[in-house]
This record gives sequence, C-alpha cells and structure tokens, in this order.
Amino acid sequence: MKIVVIQGPNLNMLGTREQQFYGPMKLEQIHAQMKDVATQSGVEIEFFQSNLEGELVDKIQECYGEADGIIINPAAYTHTSIAIRDALSAVSLPAIEVHISNTYRREEFRQKNLIAPVCTSSLVGFGPFGYHLAMVGMLQLFNEIKAMQEAQKTQQA
Ligand code: DQA
Repeated sequence: MKIVVIQGPNLNMLGTREQQFYGPMKLEQIHAQMKDVATQSGVEIEFFQSNLEGELVDKIQECYGEADGIIINPAAYTHTSIAIRDALSAVSLPAIEVHISNTYRREEFRQKNLIAPVCTSSLVGFGPFGYHLAMVGMLQLFNEIKAMQEAQKTQQA
C-alpha cells in the first residue's frame, strides 16, 4: 500500500512562518514522523510540496493507479482551487485533508473550503499532530478496504 502526502504553498516555510498559527515544527520534521509510522506499518510513503497549483494537480493525477491514499494540505488553495478539487474527485482515492490551524476560527475567507467535500475526512486545528492523526486514519481506511475485499472474495467463492 502506498500513501502520497501532498503539501501546498508556503508549507515549505513551516517552522519560520507565522508560528502563532503553525508552531515551530519544520515540514521535514513532520515528514520524518510520518515516515516512521509508515515504516512501522509496512506502508510506502512519498512526500511532495509545491507552491504551484498546476504542479499540485499534476501530482494528484499521478496518484491514479500508483497510490492507495492521499494525505493533502492544499494550504491557501483550499479556499480557491476548483482545479485541485476536480483532480481529487477525478482520481477517486481515499483522501484525508489536513489543516494545521483551525481555519474556522480565522479570517472569513478561510471559512470557505472547496476541498473537504471531495475528501474522506478532514482534520483541522490539531497543529502538526494532525498529520499523525491522518496517518492513523489512513491506515484504518486501508484495513477497512482490505477487510471489505476479503469479505467479497469469500462471498464469491
Ligand atoms: C493551512 C490554512 C490555510 O488557510 C493557509 O492558507 C495555509 C495553511 C493550515 O494548515 O492551517 O497556508 O492550510
């Protein structure tokens, strides 16, 4: 099983950027923790960050047939990008959206979320720990999918 983690604009500046919202952890540290969980669980993991909308769309499309689940923080594109939403919808993979800050307690323009309706789940406001929760959630989804497939096989036999 393979998880692709997709990080949107300005998340490469975590640790430096607006610590009152995002805390002191760097993106590399968050990814190292996620990698540990993946290794312990025997799951493959890939990380991708871009500041460009089209590159994020390309990466989501690449996941089709290649990945089993997507963990995504589209950052500011959450509030504007129909293209990212359509890409997630198109690949139709289990997807978990993460926001480090609680976007619903911030400016009004952050209340609008175009991405959540095409995701399996959204984790908002847990700080960087939200990525760990997303890993646990994705592993649970994989277990449920596996159990469903095995039950179908048994029914067919
Ligand atoms: C964010 C919230 C977005 O509104 C913001 O543009 C980000 C980060 C978060 O993780 O809290 O860049 O996605």
